[in-house]
Amino acid sequence: MISGYGSPPIDGPPDPEVAYWEVEAADYYRQHAASLGRDRLVWCPEGLEEASAGLLGDVRGLKVLEVGCGAAQGARWAASAGALAVGIDLSAGMLAVGRHLGTDGFALVQAEAAALPFADASFDLAFSAFGALPFVPSLAAVHREVARVLRPGGRWVFSTTHPFAWVFPDSPDPADLRVKRSYFERTAYYELHDAARLSYVEYHVTLGDQVRALIESGFTLDQLIEPQWPDADGATDGPAGPAGAGGAADGEWGAWSRARGALVPSTLVLCASLAGASGTSGANAAGRRRSQPRHA
Ligand SMILES: C[S@@+](CC[C@H](N)C(=O)[O-])C[C@H]1O[C@@H](n2cnc3c(N)ncnc32)[C@H](O)[C@@H]1O
Repeated sequence: MISGYGSPPIDGPPDPEVAYWEVEAADYYRQHAASLGRDRLVWCPEGLEEASAGLLGDVRGLKVLEVGCGAAQGARWAASAGALAVGIDLSAGMLAVGRHLGTDGFALVQAEAAALPFADASFDLAFSAFGALPFVPSLAAVHREVARVLRPGGRWVFSTTHPFAWVFPDSPDPADLRVKRSYFERTAYYELHDAARLSYVEYHVTLGDQVRALIESGFTLDQLIEPQWPDADGATDGPAGPAGAGGAADGEWGAWSRARGALVPSTLVLCASLAGASGTSGANAAGRRRSQPRHA
């Protein structure tokens, strides 16, 4: 395996035969099962969990789409909370793990996030926990597609890698927090299985780019959250934003760690909405968003 920073030398998405999300699907879920659970919507390794954060509000009776659902813990949670849920993912391997965990009350569909196989205005709400967005070359292409399948006033809530994390080495150790790359360098980290096949790619954009891509796709930004790890005493809402409820098992997940997270953010959560029929933002028009969620 060869890895590097810069433009991937091979265009297009990873080759399904060697793609990380295909080949490692079962191991990925097994490794993180304690943190992800089966039917909990956990937004990030910091442990921010929908059951207490309430970023989506009451989903009962709503048509809900989970984008980049992986093993579909989020869609499973939404179905158990009364939503009509669908999860989409590009990876047949991740969907197979999801099917193995059970699909009672919701559907799974293999699809690319930037080409959703649904009619216009079919959903009330879309969400994603680190699904698809870190791995696509154009955020706007996904946002526009999500906007298309949402009804007027629909909401789009997602977590992704905090752009600030890009500047540091991919290490959970706070001693490694030295700036290695320019924050303003819009490029990628990639892995090649061999000279002809891309197996993994993750793209970097700035925080400004993240917000601009949403707005240019027709969304209003309702909330920007930089989740913190919980204090030793448990979850608290800090001045910088909400804390998770527990955080990843053992306080570590890749470059995410409780020790590093005490110093710098690693996750970004954006809550956005389309204008409603009256021209007001979806969150306000629907009145579903809690004014001050406990951990959010
Ligand atoms: C970090 S996992 C997150 C999975 C799940 N949301 C969770 O929290 O466990 C990223 C998921 O995004 C999917 N993915 C990556 N690129 C995608 C794309 N372009 N369209 C749809 N899904 C994609 C991967 O297959 C993988 O299942």
